[in-house]
This record gives sequence, structure tokens and C-alpha cells, in this order.
Amino acid sequence: MKILITGGAGFIGSNLVRWILDNTQHTGVVFDALTYAGNLENLGGCLDSHRFTFVRGSVTDRESVSRVMALQRFDAVIHLAAETHVDRSIISADQFVSTNVMGTLVMLESARDNGVTRFVHVSTDEVYGDLGEFDFPFTESHPLRPSSPYAASKAASDHLVQSFIRTFNIDCVITRCSNNYGPFQFPEKFIPLMIVNAMEARTLPIYGDGKQRRDWLHVNDHCRGLLLALERGMPGEVYNFGSGHEASNIEIAQSLVAQMAASAELIKYVADRPGHDRRYALNNSKAKSQLGWEPEVDIEDGLRATISWYSEHSKWCNNVRTGEYRLYYERQYHEEL
Ligand code: NAD
Ligand code: TYD
Repeated sequence: MKILITGGAGFIGSNLVRWILDNTQHTGVVFDALTYAGNLENLGGCLDSHRFTFVRGSVTDRESVSRVMALQRFDAVIHLAAETHVDRSIISADQFVSTNVMGTLVMLESARDNGVTRFVHVSTDEVYGDLGEFDFPFTESHPLRPSSPYAASKAASDHLVQSFIRTFNIDCVITRCSNNYGPFQFPEKFIPLMIVNAMEARTLPIYGDGKQRRDWLHVNDHCRGLLLALERGMPGEVYNFGSGHEASNIEIAQSLVAQMAASAELIKYVADRPGHDRRYALNNSKAKSQLGWEPEVDIEDGLRATISWYSEHSKWCNNVRTGEYRLYYERQYHEEL
């Protein structure tokens, strides 16, 4: 297949490109605006393979999207491009609505108009809202009750995708995944922030009481699920991907501190996030039975490997901290679309 991957220079997108190169014969184009979250260093040698090329452009820009769609006849789109950080969406939601809602609309219309046969829309468990302590994990038919502006913008994009399935009969699959962790994650998100701060003996801020629970999934398990959804997903269906491994934030922070032999005194409770979702958990039996998907990475092994990755990639961390990574595109690629 020839695949257009939006947001492929971000955390999950870059891991996905690497996964595709290592495990399939697919080829494609990464289409990414390179916002603060996009980093061409994440794609490392992937672009030397000639199986993937990179085009800089925004999913909100119809003209750029049309031009890239006209470059080659894509069999599929995997749409990951989004604004993704809840805290940023609380400070200002405009960009979230623009990229996540309008950007998805542009991608859907362009896929429809260019005869793309399969569209995988990468969504999140956050669209369901949060669970009480004793509630059953979310199934795919749970109503969408987003809490944050980020989650609301993703829920809106899911609704648009579902409207295109019904109205235009386009072949879309929606995936809703739990919190990912692994290499190349921007250190504004919880796990890489804790690791990078602990490496430098800086404070590890825990929001509120730290008892909020998340279902942590290694990014490789997510990438494998996305490929299965692409290849085996039933048109119009939604698939949850969750590890089934729930942990509270304070448990994760303590586990990281212990594995890194850092001081537990670095952990500091700070003011809670407004509207903070208490608990996410996903029922993933549909992905297991229909796609043959299983989460494979054990959380302790996954965290250990992630700590090692950040320790061995101090240049990547440093480039992110100094902003140097944002100059990479100008130095390496000049053929803006
Ligand atoms: P990320 O923030 O690391 O990367 C987002 C990428 O999208 C960046 O490369 C950025 O440059 C690009 N982008 C942003 N705006 C764009 C635009 N207008 N046009 C083109 N590209 C643009 O995000 P991530 O964590 O890799 O998440 C990828 C997708 O997976 C998102 O749709 C997110 O909602 C979803 N998701 C993430 C998680 C998670 O835990 N990280 C969990 C479930 C679902
Ligand atoms: P985050 O990585 O932002 O993902 P999400 O909000 O999408 O689940 O946060 C994961 C959890 O960690 C969430 O409950 C908020 C919490 N958190 C902290 O306690 N401290 C922090 O500095 C950050 C960034 C998050």
C-alpha cells in the first residue's frame, strides 16, 4: 500500500513509520506541519530508505493537502496530525479546534475526492470522558463525554468521521487508544517529563492527589494495532486499544524514581489540572477478537526500555530543550511543498 501519514514527525507517527519500515513492504509520505511537537530527528534514518518521503504542510491547508494527494495515488491515509496536550488546550483551545476539527474535515474531503480507499482516524480514549473507581472499562459504544478542550476537539473529529462514513460511504476506521509511552515522546507529557526531570534532579510535579489512573500502552503496541486496523478493520468500525494495565500517576512516578535510583524527594504535589479526568480504562475485546490484536509490552519492561532510551539520547533531549530541533528542517530539507 501507499500510505499518507499525517503527523508522522510526532511521537506516535514517527514510531509508526519505523514500525511500517521494519515490518511491512508499504511505502508512503509523511505529511506534517512541524509544529513544536513535530521533530524531523524523530524520523532519523527513515527518510533515507526511499520508501518514505517527507512533505511539510498543514492539514488545515486545503491547497497543500490537495497537492500532496495529487503527488501519488494513495491507497490509505493514517491521520494522526493533531494538537495533543491537554494542558495547552486549557490555556488556549483555538489551535485544537483548527487542527483537530478543521484539519480532519480537510483530510476527509480530500480523501473522498481523491479516491483513497481506506482512512484510519487515530483518536483517543479521552473522547469518552472519565470513569468512576468501580465502573467497567469503556466499550466502543459508550457515549462521548469529553472533559477537556483537547478531548472535545477529538470527539468532534470522531463525529465528523462518522458522518462521512454514513453520508459519503467512505471506508473509515476509528481507533481509540489509551495513554501511550515510549521513545521520541515530547517531554511535556507525563512519563517523559518525569524521566527527563529525574535525570537532571529537577522537580517531578504531580497534579492534585496523584491518584488519577491511566491505562498505559507502549507505543509499539499501538503501532501494531494501527496496522491491523488498516489491514483488517471492518469499514465504519471503532476499535479501542488499551493495555488493561491501569496505574495511578503517583505509582508511575514512584516506579520511575525507583528504577532510575533518583531521590523520591523530587516528587512534589502541585495544583491540580482544571477538569482533570480521574480514570481511563478501555475494554479492548473487540480489537482482540476482530483484529487479532494483543498488547505485548509489559509495563515494567516498557518503562525500563523508555528510561534507557531517554538516557541514551541526551542529544535529542537537549535539542528539544534548547529548541535546536526546530532548525533541523531548514538545514536538511528545503523543498517545501
Ligand atoms: P504529538 O503531539 O507528538 O505529534 C503530533 C504531530 O502532528 C506533530 O508532528 C505535529 O507537527 C503534527 N501536527 C500538528 N498540527 C498539524 C497540522 N495542522 N498539520 C500537519 N501536522 C500537524 O502527538 P502524538 O502523541 O504522536 O499523537 C498522535 C495522534 O494520536 C493524535 O491524533 C492523538 O490525538 C492520538 N493519540 C495520542 C495518544 C498519546 O498518548 N500520545 C493516545 C491516544 C491517541
Ligand atoms: P498527560 O501525559 O498530559 O496525558 P493525559 O492528560 O492526556 O492523560 O498526563 C497524564 C497524567 O499525568 C494526567 O493524569 C495528568 C498527570 N500529570 C501530572 O500529574 N503532572 C504533569 O506534569 C503532567 C504533564 C501530567
